[in-house]
Amino acid sequence: MSKTPNDRLAGKTAVITGGAAGIGRATSLMFAREGAHVVILDIQDQAAEQTLDMIEKAGGSGHFFHADVSKANEVDRAFDAIKADVGPYDVLFNHAGTIIVKALHESTEEDYDRLMDINVRSAFLVCRRALPEMVSNGGGSVVITASIASELGYALESLYCMSKGAVLQLARTIAIEYRDQGIRCNAICPGFVKTAHGLREIAELDAAGQTWEDGDLAATQGRICEPDEVASAVVFLASDEASFVNGHALYVDNGWYSKG
Ligand SMILES: NC(=O)c1ccc[n+]([C@@H]2O[C@H](COP(=O)([O-])OP(=O)(O)OC[C@H]3O[C@@H](n4cnc5c(N)ncnc54)[C@H](O)[C@@H]3O)[C@@H](O)[C@H]2O)c1
Repeated sequence: MSKTPNDRLAGKTAVITGGAAGIGRATSLMFAREGAHVVILDIQDQAAEQTLDMIEKAGGSGHFFHADVSKANEVDRAFDAIKADVGPYDVLFNHAGTIIVKALHESTEEDYDRLMDINVRSAFLVCRRALPEMVSNGGGSVVITASIASELGYALESLYCMSKGAVLQLARTIAIEYRDQGIRCNAICPGFVKTAHGLREIAELDAAGQTWEDGDLAATQGRICEPDEVASAVVFLASDEASFVNGHALYVDNGWYSKG
């Protein structure tokens, strides 16, 4: 994979939720390498500051605002701060999310509320706030992190699959509703990615009797995906190179979804 600086996002400002760690960090760094000013919203202050430091040491620039994006008041406070301290933005990467691995009949209403708040309510709150601001700035590109679990079902992941199906539909709807106002919106749908989230998911599924480490990962997606491999797909969708790509679900899964 090329590590040379490029300019596919030169002059643009990109807001990224969950940009402190994992896929979010990889994308924050790649956005910056491509010339974007990067604005991270996250709950992990230390990881976010480290990511900003890495961006600045590589010659880029960014901001961090602490925000739990599942909470309306924190989303609005963060976007007010962006308006005051940063200005208009052209790219929104709605990425923050998490997973609960549990049998459906053991899942509680608290589990349901927590996962829907972090994965779905957050996307609603962030997109609801950002879209009119992006439209008034002339438009831009939104990328929403969905999953291979958006359209396929997985045992022990019913709440997660429900939540990721919902955000894929949000991406498709935004693509239709805001197209004529200069917004493109696409989803990325990764398989297993080597992050805290992905590694915990594999460990918890295997502890419950599945066999991802022992062969299923190789059989479905060949190997684990690196965070940079998702970031590359996000950069493409965020950039003007994808000017006619709208409402698309881009699978980053080495062919797993096509295999079914
Ligand atoms: N890792 C995978 O295998 C995989 C596969 C498909 C989809 N995804 C999606 O990727 C996202 C997780 O990213 P990751 O794999 O890099 O995991 P990660 O846990 O390393 O990173 C998640 C980031 O989101 C932040 N975050 C979590 N909740 C938040 C909240 N309420 N407000 C603000 N920030 C919050 C975390 O602090 C962290 O920086 C989720 O949306 C998940 O559905 C991951």
